[in-house]
Amino acid sequence: MKKLLVATGGGDCPGLNAVIRGIVKRASKESDWEVWGSFEALNGLMEEPTRLVRLDGKTVAGIHVKGGTILGTTNKGNPMSYPEKQPDGSVKLVNRIPWVVERLKEKGFDAVVNIGGDGSQAISQAMFEAGMPVVGVPKTIDNDLNSTDFTFGFQTAVQTASESFDRLVTTASSHHRVMIMEVMGRDAGWIALYTAISGGAEICLIPEIPYDLQAVVEKVNARYVDGRGFVNIVIAEGAKPKDGTVTATQGEEGRHAVRLGGVCYALSQQLKDAGVKADIRETVLGHTQRGGTPIAYDRVIASVFGVRAMELVLSGKFGELVVLKNNEYTSVPIKEAISAYNYVDPQGALVQAAKGLGIFFGD
Ligand code: F6P
Repeated sequence: MKKLLVATGGGDCPGLNAVIRGIVKRASKESDWEVWGSFEALNGLMEEPTRLVRLDGKTVAGIHVKGGTILGTTNKGNPMSYPEKQPDGSVKLVNRIPWVVERLKEKGFDAVVNIGGDGSQAISQAMFEAGMPVVGVPKTIDNDLNSTDFTFGFQTAVQTASESFDRLVTTASSHHRVMIMEVMGRDAGWIALYTAISGGAEICLIPEIPYDLQAVVEKVNARYVDGRGFVNIVIAEGAKPKDGTVTATQGEEGRHAVRLGGVCYALSQQLKDAGVKADIRETVLGHTQRGGTPIAYDRVIASVFGVRAMELVLSGKFGELVVLKNNEYTSVPIKEAISAYNYVDPQGALVQAAKGLGIFFGD
């Protein structure tokens, strides 16, 4: 029997289980492949004793509708810069990829399917370059991976954000308030942009278009007559004012340098300081965007990605990432996918259409 190892890495995201199920179901049509899962990304493989689990039809039955990942995940302990305790007690970051590949071979694995965002796919590429047959599957609610129309999980995050936004719209108008809703997305404004169009926001602030505070103030004030009016703002966590910086706290060890969050409170204060008199309320959606059952769109795209990943394994096409490109399921070299970040194009059709709808971007 040939052995495939599946791992889910980085932040979780709706659709991970559907990918796992797709891989296992497709593999079960072959007589010579068995599928294993590593708990918490590659940690399950790297630890002694290992924490690996055989995945079969029974293990994955019905899991495509469940949020999270049955394998667990982590965004710590990147094997490319793994924290290793030194004899003198200090901690040094070492590249453990060659060792990981050796261990995979020693445990009898013939291939790996690594499901994850840009960080995890950099690990996939490093394993591939170190001689391991690897296929990648693009995951993240942020939709910031290059080379695919959508990552799975993104549409569910937009749906969650959009439903919350609708609820804020009615309370904004009842109370004549300015409602600011902060969504995730890291350095990309995709979730904010889609939510703004879907929900009919008056203002949408994204990292790709640093906002002019005075222009935002004028837009807000213009919507009030004799103290009556309302404004719904959706702001991406990575948005920042012109000549300003992102709102963030110190990142956790072994992760991004900063942890984004709280920009809706920063904007609220900026508006008050600039003289906006209306009541302002802030909502941070946070991890609700990452949890729960995937919507149908993500179940479909994730299931297809899973099947296609297994088919790449069967045809020996490694170092590739399954993608949906120009509405076609295909694959691209992982190297290409991680070579650039997928930003919202301020001149692109979506932003222009949003402007056509009267959404103001603060520029
Ligand atoms: O990349 C997905 C994401 O949810 C980002 O949108 C967000 O900035 C980050 O992960 C949050 O990470 P954590 O789960 O570690 O707080």
